[in-house]
Amino acid sequence: MRVRILGTAAGGGLPQWNCACDVCAASRATGQGRTQDCLAISGDATNWYLVNASPDIRTQILATPELTPGPGRRQTPLRGALLTSAELDHTLGLASLREATDFTVYATKPVLEALPTRGVIDPYGGIRWCSLEDGRLTLQGGLIVESIPLGHKRPRYAATAPWADDWVVAYRFTDPRSGGVLVYAPCLAVWSPRWEAALDGADCVLLDGSFFTDDEMVDQTGAGPTASAMGHLPISETVAYRSAYPAARWIYTHLNNTNPVLLADSAQRRAVEEAGAEIAADGMVLDL
Ligand code: MLT
Ligand code: MN
Ligand code: ZN
Repeated sequence: MRVRILGTAAGGGLPQWNCACDVCAASRATGQGRTQDCLAISGDATNWYLVNASPDIRTQILATPELTPGPGRRQTPLRGALLTSAELDHTLGLASLREATDFTVYATKPVLEALPTRGVIDPYGGIRWCSLEDGRLTLQGGLIVESIPLGHKRPRYAATAPWADDWVVAYRFTDPRSGGVLVYAPCLAVWSPRWEAALDGADCVLLDGSFFTDDEMVDQTGAGPTASAMGHLPISETVAYRSAYPAARWIYTHLNNTNPVLLADSAQRRAVEEAGAEIAADGMVLDL
C-alpha cells in the first residue's frame, strides 16, 4: 500500500488565522505551515481513497501527483473517503468535493447522521454515503480496512446528538499482497484493550499528536479546554507505550498549532525522537 500524508495539523492548521502563540508566530516568521489532518491511501497506486476530508482538501489534492485527474476529462483516481469522526477539520472538505460523479463516503452511523454538509452536498448528486455497519470492507485496489470504535466524543455542533461508542474511530488498513498494516487514529481519548488489539502486528502507527501536555492550550493561549476534555491523550502519555511496539514506525499527526513538538529545536521534539517516534510531515509518503 502507498500512503500520502496530505496534512498533519489539527483543526485550524498551522498557523491558525487568529492565533499568535509561540508556534504560530514561528510559523509565520519562517513561512512554513501545515495543512489540516488528512491522508490519501491506495492498494494498487491506481485507486485512491481519502481518509478524512480536511478544509484544505483542494490545496492538498493539487499538491499530490498521484491524485491528478485524467486521462478522461472528468476521470479521477479518487474513489471515496473514509471519515474518522464528524469533526469539522475532518469533514468540511467534503463540500469541496461536490463535483464528484462517483464517490463513496464511508463513516459510522452517528457520523453520517450528524454531518451538516450532507444535505448541502446531496443535490449535486455524485456522492454516495455508506455506513460502516460491520466494521470491515475491501476497497477498490485491494486494501482491507477495519474500523475500530474509539469513543463517544461528539463535535460541538452535535453536542445533543445521541451517545454512541463510534463517534470516533481508528482505521486499520491491511494490504493482503504485501502484508503491510497501517493503523491511523488522529483522535485517541483512551488507551483501551480494543485499541491495543488494533495495534497488534502493525507496521506503522499514525496517531494522535494533538497536544504534548494536557494543559497546553491554557499554557500557550491563556484559554481553552484541556487535551483530555477534547478527547485527546497527550503525547507525554502515549509516548510511554512506544517501546512496547518496537517493530512499528510510530508517527504523531493531527498536531495542534500550540504543540511545541512543531518547533524543531524544542525539548519536547527531542523527547519524541529519543523515544524512537516521529513527527509527521505534510506530503510524507509511506510504503507498506
Ligand atoms: C478535535 O480534534 O478535538 C476537534 O477537531 C476540535 C475542533 O475543531 O473543535
Ligand atoms: Mn481535530
Ligand atoms: Zn497557535
